[in-house]
Amino acid sequence: MVATFKNYQDLSAFAANKIIRLVKHKKNAVLCLAAGDTPALTYHLVVETAKREAISFSEIIFTGLDEWVGIGPDIPGSCYHFLQQKIFGPLGIKKTQIHFFNSMATDLQQECNRINTIIQTVRGIDLALVGIGLNGHVGFNEPGIDPAGNAHVVTLDEVTSIVGQKYFKTNTALSKGITLGMAQIMQAREVLLLANGAKKAAIIRRTLKEDISNAVPAGFITTHPNGWILLDEEAAAEL
Ligand code: F6R
Repeated sequence: MVATFKNYQDLSAFAANKIIRLVKHKKNAVLCLAAGDTPALTYHLVVETAKREAISFSEIIFTGLDEWVGIGPDIPGSCYHFLQQKIFGPLGIKKTQIHFFNSMATDLQQECNRINTIIQTVRGIDLALVGIGLNGHVGFNEPGIDPAGNAHVVTLDEVTSIVGQKYFKTNTALSKGITLGMAQIMQAREVLLLANGAKKAAIIRRTLKEDISNAVPAGFITTHPNGWILLDEEAAAEL
């Protein structure tokens, strides 16, 4: 389903409401959340509502979506740091509730296996909230990925390495990522893909108008039975 909202505020309120409703309905829901600019307001609204309505997140499980390889959790710009600042910290989420990639691990393949096992053990993701890269990536599932893949280490697309600089104060080498695979995202019981702003209009056009293929990984989400492509008017401008 594609839904277009008047602005970023309305789009974020819709996504936040989906998370809140799930958490109210399923105390031990499994959430997989993207970092990045797009979901920042959604997380702010989730935190605001949870505090206002005293909604407990104490049994919710969080799985990581992706991380920059070699960028530790304490470094501003890492996905973990972002989520810690925006949602884990403000909601008082315990470390035991969070299953995130350790991108500093010496054996990254083992780290992928560890996360794959956790996702199986928790019986899959209830809701995955993802963004879209300017190249159509989801998590770090870059153009050309195997859509049947699970967690894996990836050589980042040039676009991702360049655009990713926006999260860091100083120039940072970003060459590899570790990410859930497209199959794990597609197996989530619900997927929300958010896109806002004019800079996303061209890739949203490709996502929704081109034949679905791994050239634009976000396109796969349109085939998910509970997949939502949530846009503001600027991101939908080329449709
Ligand atoms: C980050 C992630 C990425 C971003 C995407 C869009 O955890 O998974 O795929 O969602 O690059 O980033 P923003 O929202 O900053 O435009």
